[in-house]
Amino acid sequence: MALNIEGTIEGSSQLIGGDFTTAGEASTLLKVKLTELGVAEDIIRRAAIATFEAEMNVVIYAAAGWLHYYISPQGIRIRIEDMGPGIADIGLAMQEGYSTAPDWVREMGWGAGMGLPNMKRNSDVFTIDSVVGEGTTVEMVINFP
Ligand SMILES: Nc1ncnc2c1ncn2[C@@H]1O[C@H](COP(=O)(O)OP(=O)(O)OP(=O)(O)O)[C@@H](O)[C@H]1O
Ligand SMILES: [Mg+2]
Repeated sequence: MALNIEGTIEGSSQLIGGDFTTAGEASTLLKVKLTELGVAEDIIRRAAIATFEAEMNVVIYAAAGWLHYYISPQGIRIRIEDMGPGIADIGLAMQEGYSTAPDWVREMGWGAGMGLPNMKRNSDVFTIDSVVGEGTTVEMVINFP
């Protein structure tokens, strides 16, 4: 966490593929930071949902990744980048109910195919870029009212 010259508060967390014991820590850290800053509850809830879903996708599908957040007077920008298999058809992956989660992941309660649609719904700006065999980057912006 650092305060840069423009008054933006930044933070980063490393994400580890397959590590379900630490999964959720990155989104919790952001939630704590937003709470400390006195951000409105509704905005915190949207940021926490979107970030948690993105974090879980890295844990489930990728080898490793990073979550970066930037909190400015205008809003929150969150970037989640991973090294992983990438997504061949982003249009398909964005559809509600589409999931390639294996059975053992479904047994843990994941794999409803709702993560990406929920991230988009909870963001004011949502972008996803992916290169098959390299990885995926999701960027989300939530503006303050
Ligand atoms: N970071 C990623 N790397 C590779 N594939 C991904 C990544 N994120 C999503 N996907 C692909 O997109 C599909 C849809 O993702 P989404 O998060 O919407 O649903 P899910 O993870 O399958 O289920 P849920 O999020 O509801 O538990 C995934 O099943 C997977 O095939
Ligand atoms: Mg998901």
